[in-house]
Amino acid sequence: MNNLIIYFLHFFDPETAHKIAIEILSKNYFVSYDAPELITKISNIEFKNPIGLAAGLDKSGKCFNGIFKLGFSSVEIGTVTPLGQQGNPKPRVFRLYEDRAVINRYGFNNDGMELVKNRLLKERHRKGVLGINIGPNKNSLNPIKDYNIIAKKLAKYSDYIAINVSSPNTPGLRKLQEKSLLSDVIDSTKEGINEAGEKKPIFLKISPDLLTSELEDVIEISILNKLDAIIVSNTTIERPKLLNNSKNQLGGLSGHPLFEKSTKLLEVVKKISNNEIKLIGVGGVENAKQAYTKILVGANLVQLYTGLLFQGPKIVKVITNQISEFLVRDGFSSIEEAVGSLSYKKALNLNNLE
Ligand SMILES: Cc1cc2nc3c(=O)[nH]c(=O)nc-3n(C[C@H](O)[C@H](O)[C@H](O)COP(=O)(O)O)c2cc1C
Repeated sequence: MNNLIIYFLHFFDPETAHKIAIEILSKNYFVSYDAPELITKISNIEFKNPIGLAAGLDKSGKCFNGIFKLGFSSVEIGTVTPLGQQGNPKPRVFRLYEDRAVINRYGFNNDGMELVKNRLLKERHRKGVLGINIGPNKNSLNPIKDYNIIAKKLAKYSDYIAINVSSPNTPGLRKLQEKSLLSDVIDSTKEGINEAGEKKPIFLKISPDLLTSELEDVIEISILNKLDAIIVSNTTIERPKLLNNSKNQLGGLSGHPLFEKSTKLLEVVKKISNNEIKLIGVGGVENAKQAYTKILVGANLVQLYTGLLFQGPKIVKVITNQISEFLVRDGFSSIEEAVGSLSYKKALNLNNLE
């Protein structure tokens, strides 16, 4: 079934395949998987296993309950903006088969917060943790205020809010990671959640292309503002050695070539933050060894997206089963015990990833 679906979807251009996949997922075809030893926590949220879906697949909250059926403990919908928007002209997503990677420049195409709110109202019985990833409209006159508007509107319907200041496809967005602007974005989001009468954990999603000095500022501000987690990382605008002809397309690169960069960054963030903030590891995960490596290096939760496109819907089941085995092999009784217990290099060695 898994291979059949991948085979079928690859006949279509990436964007059509994406639409068909959403259709399939919205029908809840699959079976869920639970494993008590895999439970992990970030602030007051309990995740039934350490594998979540990263933002970008269910941009408008159309099929998250179907996605939970694949075994994901959490789904981060979005990026949602205050007003619906079309995003960039097509083609804007490119599959790089040889590199097991994707380059996308979607540019926050989504239905906007009103429609998303209506869908969330209808789908009250969720099968897992629902995060809402938020960002500003492309033509917004006040992008910082947008975080307030959307947090106020949607906080009630989420388990956590993820602040996106790191997508490369909205001009000027990544500038919001600068010290003073970032503080304003966080304040704006917090006020929005407060104004909604809610208390929700806030995660910050960062770019893998930050310089060390910028990274230090981002981490300092995150800790000062008592954020609940940093998501490491979004897509990169760098182009490591790639084979596919689409490698020079503008946009964010995800998938296999991002694994090393995003996991090394996770280690740096772990060191600089001195365990004062929880971390979510994202980037290039397509198997259990890679997911477990991110956990050993410091991630309480791992998210993936591109791995699902190349490995198909069985990916979460395979990864979670194998992580359970790795925990036993390495003498850990829980995910929490394993988190941050090894350096990147040692974790690679342990998992025969070099
Ligand atoms: C097609 C596509 C669309 C994406 N859209 C978003 C988005 O809207 N917001 C966001 O924060 N990240 C977005 N991402 C980034 C992913 O959430 C993730 O951070 C990144 O792809 C690295 O993980 P991966 O290698 O497992 O895909 C997108 C990624 C892809 C491939």
